[in-house]
Amino acid sequence: MITVYGLLGRPSVELRIAAAAADVVVGGARHLDRLDVDEDRRIVLGSLAAAIEQLGSGRAEAEVVVVASGDPLYFGVVRALRAAGLRPAVVPAVSSIAAAFAAIGLPWDDAAVVSVHGRPLQPALDLARNTDKVAVFTSADHGVRELAAGLAGIGRWFVLAERLGEDDQQVTVLTSEQALDATPREPNVVLILSRHPSDDDAPWPGSIAGPGAPAPYPTLGEPE
Ligand SMILES: C[S@@+](CC[C@H](N)C(=O)[O-])C[C@H]1O[C@@H](n2cnc3c(N)ncnc32)[C@H](O)[C@@H]1O
Repeated sequence: MITVYGLLGRPSVELRIAAAAADVVVGGARHLDRLDVDEDRRIVLGSLAAAIEQLGSGRAEAEVVVVASGDPLYFGVVRALRAAGLRPAVVPAVSSIAAAFAAIGLPWDDAAVVSVHGRPLQPALDLARNTDKVAVFTSADHGVRELAAGLAGIGRWFVLAERLGEDDQQVTVLTSEQALDATPREPNVVLILSRHPSDDDAPWPGSIAGPGAPAPYPTLGEPE
C-alpha cells in the first residue's frame, strides 16, 4: 500500500510512526533526513518518474510512505502518481500557500494560485497584472525578484514567505523595489497583492457563488 503524507515543518507523530514502520520511504533528502529514514529504506527524489518506476516494480504488499511538502493533492505528487496508475491513500498537511496567507492573517478564498516551479514565469505575471491577489509557488530561478522585475510599474506588494513551518521561517512584506533586491531562501512562496495586507479587504468578487447567490461567506449579523 502506498500512503502519501504531506509535511510542512515538524513531522506529525502519525507520520513518524508510519515512516519508521514502512518498507520504503520516498521523499526529498531533507524530508527523509528529518524522519531519520535509514539508507536501505530510502528512495530519494530527484526524479519522480524514476521513483514511480521503482514503486511499480516493488512488492505489491510492501508498505510505502511517500513524503511531500504541504498538501500533496494541491500542486503536488499525487497527480503524477495517479497518472502512473497508482491510487495512493493521502494524509495532507497544510499547503504552503495556506500557511503563507495564515502568517499575514489574510483570507485567500479570492486568490488565484499559480506555479512557476519548473514552469514559465509569464502566466504568473499575466495573472498578477489582472488580479488583486495572486499566490505563486516559486523556484530558485523563478522567484520574488523575477516576479517583481516582470511587474515593474504595476504597483504591487510582495509577501515573501520563506521556509514555512521551519524554525527559521520568515514572512516579509516588501515593496516592489525591496522585492527586486531580496535574497530569498528556498523553499518559498510569494503572494502578490494590489493592497498592503493591513489595508481593508477588497469587496468579495463573488464570481464563484455566481450573481444573485446568497453571501458566500459568513456575515456578522445577529446570531440566530
Ligand atoms: C511542487 S510544489 C508543492 C506544493 C505543495 N503541494 C503545497 O501544498 O505546499 C513545491 C513548491 O512549494 C513551495 N513550498 C514547499 N514547501 C515550502 C515551505 N516549507 N515554505 C515555503 N514554500 C514551500 C515552494 O514554492 C516550492 O517550490
